[in-house]
Amino acid sequence: MTQKISLSRYLVEQQRSKGHIPSQLRLLLEVVARACKGISHAVNKGALGGVLGSAGSENVQGEVQKKLDIIANEVLIEANEWGGHLAAMASEEMDSIYLVPNRYPQGEYLLLFDPLDGSSNIDVNVSIGTIFSVLIKPEGPQAVSEQDFLQAGKHQVAAGYCVYGPQTTLVLTVGDGVALFTLDREQGSFVLTQENLQIPQDTQEFAINMSNMRHWDAPVKRYIDECLLGQDGPRGKNFNMRWIASMVADVHRILTRGGVFMYPWDKREPNKAGKLRLMYEANPMSWLVEQAGGASTNGRTRILDLQPTQLHERVSVILGSKNEVDRVTAYHH
Ligand code: AHG
Ligand code: MN
Ligand code: MN
Repeated sequence: MTQKISLSRYLVEQQRSKGHIPSQLRLLLEVVARACKGISHAVNKGALGGVLGSAGSENVQGEVQKKLDIIANEVLIEANEWGGHLAAMASEEMDSIYLVPNRYPQGEYLLLFDPLDGSSNIDVNVSIGTIFSVLIKPEGPQAVSEQDFLQAGKHQVAAGYCVYGPQTTLVLTVGDGVALFTLDREQGSFVLTQENLQIPQDTQEFAINMSNMRHWDAPVKRYIDECLLGQDGPRGKNFNMRWIASMVADVHRILTRGGVFMYPWDKREPNKAGKLRLMYEANPMSWLVEQAGGASTNGRTRILDLQPTQLHERVSVILGSKNEVDRVTAYHH
């Protein structure tokens, strides 16, 4: 019988064989996975757990918070604050950074998360998820500040997400490819179900919210127009479209079978760089996609090279199958 490899064993073996997962990082990843398990249980209970609906509050970006946005945020904080592996956390649902309380030891890592991605899908029972990114606190005796978090995505040391869908799956990179784990509910553990995920370079599937078409910039409009012309147009092939409105679920599909995902800047609010957030949505997803052989840009620049200037900064995102991302990016130049 082939033995199942749990997330814990996978991390231990990675640490042993490649030495690129220090024990504090391993602890951090195990704790994040445990928190995701807790969130997954809450999501599964739905109305029975009283977790659906609005919390009646707004986050720093002016978005209405759902009960699960707040529950997921609390689960992640409570799981992570006492282990001694973190210096601070930052979240979509918190205005400013969260310092590890003085009563606990301080570690060297910074954890960023979108506790519940795809909030508009919670109450309609469609896949949602958690996205996370890990950075190292810059050296020095000074207390952690927001400035310490403002590092380009290429400096991440771990990134991943967990999708709460028909299955609960955790997808992870520590810079050595992408591994996928499926939650075994009977055992209560994440089990390795796929290693070295690869995104096909070409695709005939795109993901974009088409209702914003009239607001798009010319390069994005050109790309989608050409896809829509199908076999009769310049692309000479037909395209399919998918839009789940949960970035986690759309990116998961792309990591599984290819595709291109776009949430571009548009003219609705010209001063906003885009809808998605750089530090806890675009950066971790971009690194995962690149680690799986795909590409990710804001239309002009590689996302992982962007120097953040604010914790909750937004960014235009084009990611997925390399040849299509290169094409959309070329249309911008
Ligand atoms: P969040 O629920 O964390 O605010 O993120 C939602 C994001 C992303 O997951 C998704 O791709 C996008 O918003 C959907 O936006 P539209 O509703 O504009 O399609
Ligand atoms: Mn999100
Ligand atoms: Mn969210």
